[in-house]
Amino acid sequence: MARDLVLSFETSCDETSVAVIENGNRILSNIVATQIKSHQRFGGVVPEVASRHHIEQITSCIGDALRGANVTYDELTSVAVTYGPGLVGALLIGVTAAKAIAWAHHLPLVPVNHLAGHIYAARLVEPIEFPAMALVVSGGHTELVYMPEENQFQIIGETRDDAAGEAYDKIGRVLGINYPAGKPVDELAHKGQDTFHFPRAMDADDNFDFSFSGLKSAFINTVHHADQIGEKLSHEDLAASFQQAVVDVLADKTKRALKEFPVKQLILAGGVAANQGLRDRLTKEIAGFSDTKLELVPLSLCGDNAAMIGAAGEMLYRHGVRGDATLNADPGLEFEWLVDEAK
Ligand code: KG4
Ligand code: ZN
Repeated sequence: MARDLVLSFETSCDETSVAVIENGNRILSNIVATQIKSHQRFGGVVPEVASRHHIEQITSCIGDALRGANVTYDELTSVAVTYGPGLVGALLIGVTAAKAIAWAHHLPLVPVNHLAGHIYAARLVEPIEFPAMALVVSGGHTELVYMPEENQFQIIGETRDDAAGEAYDKIGRVLGINYPAGKPVDELAHKGQDTFHFPRAMDADDNFDFSFSGLKSAFINTVHHADQIGEKLSHEDLAASFQQAVVDVLADKTKRALKEFPVKQLILAGGVAANQGLRDRLTKEIAGFSDTKLELVPLSLCGDNAAMIGAAGEMLYRHGVRGDATLNADPGLEFEWLVDEAK
């Protein structure tokens, strides 16, 4: 059987990444050039700085990805690229590079939704079995996605305000932790106890939506109030209390969703899927669902990377999804468009 080889691009935020994926599920190379250091002194991603870094990095990432995979342009089957959601200037660098290569080498171009990429990272470990559910938690998104079949995505719940990762980054700043704060807060949380009992917003509500801005404000107010009266609070307990509140809501809503939408697989994906507290909790909870298998995206593939875009790209290619020279970045790309995309 001929090898299917996707050259894939991811530049939606602060990682410039290019990968080569074989047959949709095998990573031949996955080059990730992170820009985190350049953004840290600003406390978050600066879009203009991100675009400039992507321009500087993209050409060498392409070369490294092809060399790393020991593959030439002639052997490629398709070119896949994240075209949204994300930062418009950052997305444009990947989209332009992918279009240029597709055009120059007469290859089909496959536009990929960034969130579909996060979810389909799971198939780099094991085939996805449908119907499946994904909890996608990242710096920009918190979504429960029901997937009746391959290439079908139905958002059944999402955040009404801050994304989970965004809340981690914002409360981290109050604790003096540099962006991105998720991992250090996770580590601190394991050394403390839930002593503050922060609010679990919408936990009891009869829907699958989330809200993290009230929790974030409660956290920040607690720390500021203590500062004003000269009281010293335990950062470990603060982190543990925050994390417990986030994990409680994510786990409770996911459990409720699984009861209403029974699935063969639950996929935990996105940057916040690297959270150890969340991984442990879902592992425990899923034991109560004997017909559902938990698929934890491996830590190395939770954050933004092009391998996941190649994994989704190969699937979309089989479903006939194509882009052309008019393909543009779509910073606010909605997920729903994918529901009936199999044309
Ligand atoms: O998916 P991702 O790399 O980029 C987006 O698409 O947003 O996610 C980045 C987010 C950041 O907010 C970061 O703080 C968070 O993932 N993150 C974590 C952990 N590792 C990364 N949040 C909680 N616990 C972690 N261990
Ligand atoms: Zn992401």
